[in-house]
Amino acid sequence: MNANKEFWESMWTEGRTNWDIGYAAPPIDEYMKTVTDKNIRILIPGAGNAYEAEHLHKEGFQNVYVLDIAAKPLDNLKKRVPDFPGEHLLNEDFFSHNEHYDLIIEQTFFIAIDPKRRGEYAKKIHELLKPGGKLVGLLIFDTEPYPDGPPFIETKEEYIRHFDGLFEIKKYEVAHNSIKPRAGREMFIEVIRLKS
Ligand SMILES: C[S@@+](CC[C@H](N)C(=O)[O-])C[C@H]1O[C@@H](n2cnc3c(N)ncnc32)[C@H](O)[C@@H]1O
Repeated sequence: MNANKEFWESMWTEGRTNWDIGYAAPPIDEYMKTVTDKNIRILIPGAGNAYEAEHLHKEGFQNVYVLDIAAKPLDNLKKRVPDFPGEHLLNEDFFSHNEHYDLIIEQTFFIAIDPKRRGEYAKKIHELLKPGGKLVGLLIFDTEPYPDGPPFIETKEEYIRHFDGLFEIKKYEVAHNSIKPRAGREMFIEVIRLKS
């Protein structure tokens, strides 16, 4: 399966977006309530309809960047939230993006990418974060891998090994406040970029 730009554009134009929960995921929402500096640079890669970005924007966060390889979800956000800054909507491939952020939010993007690229994803997150910057979010897992994705679901042990050596693992635990259909199947991840 070559999940490239055309693939994702067609998923969006055909409305095949059953991952979309329609609002900011509660574990991410709860975490963001603890972040007091509203000027930090935040990236949401593979953001889709980006309800987290909408919510953060409404909460006064000034530097929220939304990145997706497909144009449609960015247009959707623009329509829903007309005052969301247009220059913060990035229609790009995550793997080619080059900027620096204090915080990156992960929500159902890691499991959308080819499993062969998981190491590359972790390295790219490391590269995009400022020293001491964090990746925070949710990783859907299962006890048996589901390799015929996307989504490419895996065991929690398989995911975390890609972050070893690049990040200090602050939290990697089953989320306690997932939405009902994902309860007990989402790891909440909070990792801090190591210097080297
Ligand atoms: C499973 S969806 C998740 C969307 C959103 N985070 C959510 O949870 O509702 C994965 C998203 O990643 C985007 N995507 C896939 N590959 C990408 C890439 N290489 N760079 C940027 N976005 C990508 C897709 O267009 C899609 O919107």
